[in-house]
Amino acid sequence: GSHRRFETRTMNFLLETLQVLFLSIYYLLEAFVMLFIPVRRKNVAGEIVLITGAGSGIGRLMAIEFAKLGAALVLWDISKEGNKETARLAKEKGASRVHSYLCDCSNTAEVYRVADQVKREVGDVSILINNAGIVTGKKFIESPDNLIVKTMEVNTMAHFWTYKAFLPAMIASNHGHLVSIASSAGMIGVNGLADYCASKFAAVGFAESVALELEAKKKNGIKTTIVCPYFINTGMFDGCSTKWPNLLPILNPDYAARKIVDGILKDQVYILLPRTLYLLMGLKNIIPVKLGLLLGEYLGAFNFMDHFKGRTKKD
Ligand SMILES: NC(=O)c1ccc[n+]([C@@H]2O[C@H](COP(=O)([O-])OP(=O)(O)OC[C@H]3O[C@@H](n4cnc5c(N)ncnc54)[C@H](O)[C@@H]3O)[C@@H](O)[C@H]2O)c1
Repeated sequence: GSHRRFETRTMNFLLETLQVLFLSIYYLLEAFVMLFIPVRRKNVAGEIVLITGAGSGIGRLMAIEFAKLGAALVLWDISKEGNKETARLAKEKGASRVHSYLCDCSNTAEVYRVADQVKREVGDVSILINNAGIVTGKKFIESPDNLIVKTMEVNTMAHFWTYKAFLPAMIASNHGHLVSIASSAGMIGVNGLADYCASKFAAVGFAESVALELEAKKKNGIKTTIVCPYFINTGMFDGCSTKWPNLLPILNPDYAARKIVDGILKDQVYILLPRTLYLLMGLKNIIPVKLGLLLGEYLGAFNFMDHFKGRTKKD
């Protein structure tokens, strides 16, 4: 009776633990070997790539990279001019199909409406890149409520609505790729970026959780990528400076966009830029709090936002 059940359970525990130990070693070795083997890049020619916030910065540069690869582009932005310039540059790089849409991603109804229009006019999006983002850039108490809400709507909630609009078709065909352009500020708090960090942490948590839902559903044809870059010199964070540029450089936008698109082609699940971040994020959770503060001070992390100007009205 109960003695037998106990024995079976112990046996199962031992077997499963052994199996996990064996696989752990296997996966570690596999990851190590993969460091030296060139990874295959997937072919995205003909795939429909939607990029939100495509009218500037990283969004525009990713659009140009995908144009070179023969993808069909769907550009979303609130800036008509910005989108127009991105479309022009993409066509110059050989893009055959570029479709621009005005869409305010912070507006749920508008996201659904424009998404329907895209499905009718272009087709089912197979690579969705949530990239549109804004930053308040003030200390939390001084941040106007409407900007705090807007930050959450653009940087986080827009991801909910775009997933709702485009994920069902990906699930039906078990084919697609969800890309979240989050931030290193989605993994570690930053003095002067409270609402922005909240929105980016939320974006990371959301993307990671949906990825697990897809994993549980065995929808392994749908890939996911979470991108966490340190500061990039696009104008979004104008005025900010880094203390030791050699250790933690402000990233060049072209370099960042190329690295991100290359990571997407490799189906990389997490992309941290620069690579120093992998070490810093690992350390964050295991070192004493005081040591963390010392390192933050040393890296200038607490003063990064001191001279923030950001985008001016005209931009
Ligand atoms: N620049 C950085 O240092 C940095 C670092 C890490 C992560 N990121 C993230 O990368 C993404 C791109 O940043 P960027 O530096 O290229 O910024 P950017 O300001 O150059 O581009 C953002 C684009 O989003 C558009 N946009 C803003 N609100 C929108 C809305 N409601 N609906 C649709 N489009 C909207 C803007 O018009 C603009 O074209 C953002 O999500 C940002 O948070 C940036």
